Amino acid sequence: MMNMTEKTVLVTGGLGYIGSHTVVELLVAGYQVIVVDNLSNSERFIFDRIIKIAQKEPVFYQDDVCDLAAMSNIFKKHQVDVVIHFAAFKSVGESVEKPLLYYQNNLISLLNILQLVQENSVEGLVFSSSATVYGEPDVLPATEETPFIKALSAYGSTKQMGEEIIEMVTSSGVFKAISLRYFNPVGAHETALIGELPKGIPNNLFPYVTQTAKGKLAMLTVFGDDYNTVDGTCVRDYIHVVDLAKAHLAACRRIINQECQSASEVYNIGTGNGTTVLEIIKQFEATTDKLLPYKIGARRPGDAEAVYADSSKAEKELLWKATLNLKDMIQSSWAWENTL
Ligand code: UFG
Repeated sequence: MMNMTEKTVLVTGGLGYIGSHTVVELLVAGYQVIVVDNLSNSERFIFDRIIKIAQKEPVFYQDDVCDLAAMSNIFKKHQVDVVIHFAAFKSVGESVEKPLLYYQNNLISLLNILQLVQENSVEGLVFSSSATVYGEPDVLPATEETPFIKALSAYGSTKQMGEEIIEMVTSSGVFKAISLRYFNPVGAHETALIGELPKGIPNNLFPYVTQTAKGKLAMLTVFGDDYNTVDGTCVRDYIHVVDLAKAHLAACRRIINQECQSASEVYNIGTGNGTTVLEIIKQFEATTDKLLPYKIGARRPGDAEAVYADSSKAEKELLWKATLNLKDMIQSSWAWENTL
């Protein structure tokens, strides 16, 4: 086992939702961490919160990963062992409105990172992929062998293309890459010092639920109850963001310990449990003792009926498994909401 304290991990988007939780776990595990974030969808105070939780300070650069010259300077100053690349635009709806912006931002940043990883003898890259690559899977749970279907949004397309570009670039063999396909990340750190900070009215279920319970929003709309599921509402695989952060550590470890079986690997990161929207509402009310006003509305265009993960490959090869349950996810999101 390598001494992790000698290893440096550069985290792009390290002040974002998943990035900040991952930076905390890396610092606590003893890695040196360099955070690069342009604050386009994150807040500077999260940096101070990370230090408060971890009692250690990462190096911080306020730069855009699309700025190759700025990024080159960072790689000149530091010997980086692994890069975790979170920085990207992530709103499905916005990507349908502004596809070119999503291709430019998400692909140019990835191409820059690949160039820098290659030029600077970095051992490997961990890439934020998404269950969105599966679209509406024909067979459930989705395994890593489940084929891609044509993406419905530019966001989904950049994740599919990102994985394909990584596979091609790593095939020439100088560095390793692990793409993690996240299912539905929710929850917040147990200290309630960091969590999700959605801009404007949230699109995602969890922040919509907590903001409604808090009285910031009038009512939750359940998008359709006529799906072919136990109660008619959509099924998703919700995963606690701290479990997800730990999956990134497992991927770093695999790269550093030279355990990768191929130049480019992919892993599903979910719990394997499918939960409906109505089950989330009931569980939220039971856990928090708050009444959640909701109504049944029309289906949301583009929503898949049911998506959940087979994460047994991650369990076997990354030695990672989700340990936090739905109650933990709800409790921590609610505690975080109450600090905002
Ligand atoms: N939902 C509601 N009401 C709301 C918000 C959501 O009923 O106000 C429902 C949705 O219909 C869906 C479920 O709650 O059934 C979860 O919706 P989210 O928007 O939270 O998450 P999605 O599964 O739609 O999206 C997630 C990620 C995306 C990713 C997508 C596909 O947030 O980044 O999975 O993998 F692209």
